[in-house]
Amino acid sequence: MVSNMENNNASALEALKAECQQCTKCELCTGRTNLVFGVGNPCAEVMLIGEGPGEQEDLQGEPFVGRSGKLMDLMLDAVDLSRSRNIYIANMVKCRPPKNRDPQPNEQDECLHWLREQFRIIRPKIVVCVGRISGAKLIKPDLKITREHGEFIMKNGVLMMATLHPAALLRDPNKKPEAFADYLKLREKIKELCERTY
Ligand code: URA
Ligand code: SF4
Repeated sequence: MVSNMENNNASALEALKAECQQCTKCELCTGRTNLVFGVGNPCAEVMLIGEGPGEQEDLQGEPFVGRSGKLMDLMLDAVDLSRSRNIYIANMVKCRPPKNRDPQPNEQDECLHWLREQFRIIRPKIVVCVGRISGAKLIKPDLKITREHGEFIMKNGVLMMATLHPAALLRDPNKKPEAFADYLKLREKIKELCERTY
């Protein structure tokens, strides 16, 4: 059954997305086919934040639907998490950077407004930064992802962790076991902390 809270959050997110679709706050707006706002359970206790849309995401208007996303979905599914049930997935920037370059600091700063509003509506207990870009912005600027992935830190009442980006795992499959260990740790934290959607 869909709860009142789920309905309220879903409509708040829809309204925010409609506003975001008009956004021209940074120059990435000129290259977008579709805005990639975010997807998942509007009451998720766990949010995953990537970097920015790639080609497939821009074409389909949904985060993590290309090769990287498929790999991430497999790891998530193995720990009983999915965008269709119990998590919410978004990116640091909502419009695709040209040729998949890293989003620049000013673009991330401009776009942070939308992510903050998403946090404010969804109020997750756990945030997973997928890759160095969101980890550096949301956890700490000098984050060393190769060494510090899988470590949880509490920040403003939210438990945060960075994990290796699935694109890095496609480039170097040897890193898959240590990345998957992060997902197992995430599962443990969910068991400790979450009640609503798991
Ligand atoms: N990589 C990301 O960081 N985000 C996406 O949505 C897709 C690929
Ligand atoms: Fe606006 Fe973010 Fe798109 Fe830039 S990337 S135009 S800030 S929605």
